[in-house]
Amino acid sequence: MMRESLQKYQAAMRQMEVRLEVLDRDLSLKKNRNPIHHIESRIKKPASIFEKLQRQGFPVTIESMEENLFDIAGVRVICSYIHDVYNLLDSLKKQDDLEIVTVKDYIANPKPNGYRSLHAIVRIPVYFMDKKEMVPVEVQMRTIAMDFWASLEHSLKYKAVHEVQGIDASDELKDCSRIIEDVEARMQILARALEVED
Ligand code: GTP
Ligand code: MG
Repeated sequence: MMRESLQKYQAAMRQMEVRLEVLDRDLSLKKNRNPIHHIESRIKKPASIFEKLQRQGFPVTIESMEENLFDIAGVRVICSYIHDVYNLLDSLKKQDDLEIVTVKDYIANPKPNGYRSLHAIVRIPVYFMDKKEMVPVEVQMRTIAMDFWASLEHSLKYKAVHEVQGIDASDELKDCSRIIEDVEARMQILARALEVED
């Protein structure tokens, strides 16, 4: 049943949010820093699930969805700095009841269009009355600056705007992405002055 299945992903998504919040509080107590700026979560809509299954040539059934789609539950973690992203990923890797299925590092290797973020598929245990299930969640981690870029790129993609005031939007976006990368590196160095020594 679709509703029952989606409830499972809802539970996994909430568990993942709590894990991340606990890490955020822990670091804020120990180092007086807040690695997480904010978290956005979503469950993929049934229409998008069907569309993706069809597009990828998978059967359009609940079993097929659970087997083939790993982004039904999505948690986006927006951090201030790049090192916050990697610190959080390391902390998740150390949690022995989580299973890191894949990591795609588009920060170290940006996509050709300039997209930067770190994507991990993480399986998290969800306990039911009579069983435990490891449910996949797509965790997208990025900085505020990367999120700023991705938001505009996403909006432009669905507007089919290729030219804005005589500017080639895709070239301009790529260039902005590189500038953002540079600014982030410089600001991260400045921010070191705020770090508390152990
Ligand atoms: P999907 O079939 O879309 O899940 O792609 P994938 O399985 O190859 O995963 P990938 O890591 O490429 O992208 C997964 C998600 O990352 C997407 O659903 C978007 O939310 C985000 N994303 C990936 N590429 C881009 C991009 O170029 N621009 C923006 N704005 N978001 C992106
Ligand atoms: Mg996706």
